[in-house]
Amino acid sequence: MVSTDGMEFHENILGTVGETPLVRLRAVARDVPGLLLAKVESRNPGGSVKDRIGIKILEEAERRGEIKPGATVVEATSGNTGVGLAIAAAVKGYKAILTMPDKMSQEKISLIKAYGAQVIVTPTAVPPDSPESNYEVAKRIARETPNAFLANQYFNPDNPQAHYETTGPEIWRQTAGRVTHIVAGIGTGGTISGIARFLKEKNPKIRAVGADPAGSIIKGYYDTGKIGEAKSYLVEGIGEDIIPGTCHFQYLDEIITVTDRPALNMARRVSREEGILCGGSSGTAVVAALQVAGDAGPDAVVVVILPDTGERYLSKVHNDAWMRDNRILDVSSYTVGDLLGSKPRSLPRLLDVPSTEKVREALKLVREYEVSQLPVREKDRHVGTLSEARVLSAVLEDPALLEAAVTAVMDPPLAEVTVSTTFTELRALLARRDSAVLVLDGDRHIGILTRHDLIEYLVP
Ligand SMILES: Cc1ncc(COP(=O)(O)O)c(C=O)c1O
Repeated sequence: MVSTDGMEFHENILGTVGETPLVRLRAVARDVPGLLLAKVESRNPGGSVKDRIGIKILEEAERRGEIKPGATVVEATSGNTGVGLAIAAAVKGYKAILTMPDKMSQEKISLIKAYGAQVIVTPTAVPPDSPESNYEVAKRIARETPNAFLANQYFNPDNPQAHYETTGPEIWRQTAGRVTHIVAGIGTGGTISGIARFLKEKNPKIRAVGADPAGSIIKGYYDTGKIGEAKSYLVEGIGEDIIPGTCHFQYLDEIITVTDRPALNMARRVSREEGILCGGSSGTAVVAALQVAGDAGPDAVVVVILPDTGERYLSKVHNDAWMRDNRILDVSSYTVGDLLGSKPRSLPRLLDVPSTEKVREALKLVREYEVSQLPVREKDRHVGTLSEARVLSAVLEDPALLEAAVTAVMDPPLAEVTVSTTFTELRALLARRDSAVLVLDGDRHIGILTRHDLIEYLVP
């Protein structure tokens, strides 16, 4: 920050990196004793914790003479390091080429391009030593590009060092030295390693806990020293299929595995209940932090790192359809109104037929929309239901029914629920009795929910 003639400003945007706020998590931490504080890294100018290493890596490389004017910065990234480097490169006048695996969100790819950097998308489903892998493509580009500098976040000591020099001291100061636990997801491990080293030098009793997505090899390696086989998972930015040289396991006291479903649903809860928009790696860290805080006493001060903003995942974590398609949307706290809102829009919310409609026409609708029941309406009331199975067997026996009004073959009307009926109540109703229910908002019918709709949300 420059203060001159009563003015206060930064020489460039890089001066605004760091000094992110600590915010108490209340709603999601309702059931744990002690204090749970989130370090909100989305408040960095590039929206993530990785802005810290973007500058540090480039400035140290400049100091050592490893990067020259007009250089091209190259890096393999899950996105955020790409943004951090692209910002620092923009300010410093370097070009940047970033490689990103294809599982990463489109938002992150677009963001990096918006900062003027080039993005090369690589396949996710290849082993790390394949020439097509994110790491290997970055290395090749760095070799083949004149005057290139490979940032090498997975092995560059300036990565953890950035957190040793900034994030760690900030947490120490912001908690007046009262922090007892630090919890962070592990990608390169730079964040947790740098913070943990700093805090443990201040107070060796502080515990550092890493959070690792199920499918990553990091926890297995930490626990057994063996390198297992990585499996796929949805959370972005953390978990690895290699052991990064920047993860300093000697500073870690524990690593907790977190699966996609609780992680991504927690990201949604933190956004909705705390007003802190975040993504899956934040959700992973919060799930682990709640476990840590739950086991610690009322005097614990647990700091959890929220690495980036949920704006990066609007098409994924914060999109009901994406969550449902991946079978991980947790609807246990949903009402019928919420469920109806998250139904795919390809279907009309409420498909019904007037009681005067011919059976033949009703069957056309059943086929067109692939529904198995159709409510029958008379003025504003529903007076019955056509069930596909029953109508078809009736028509096979007596084809003349095709030209009859639907009232000739209808069953009694479906049960009704209101928009505020809970998911649990609805599930019980559909399990016991009806194959579908009509949804009422006041005295208006606004939709239908079927057993099939609910099955989409169930997990074994
Ligand atoms: C979204 C997100 N969260 C967490 C991390 C993990 O941080 P670190 O690499 O310092 O372990 C990353 C790293 O890329 C990330 O992109």
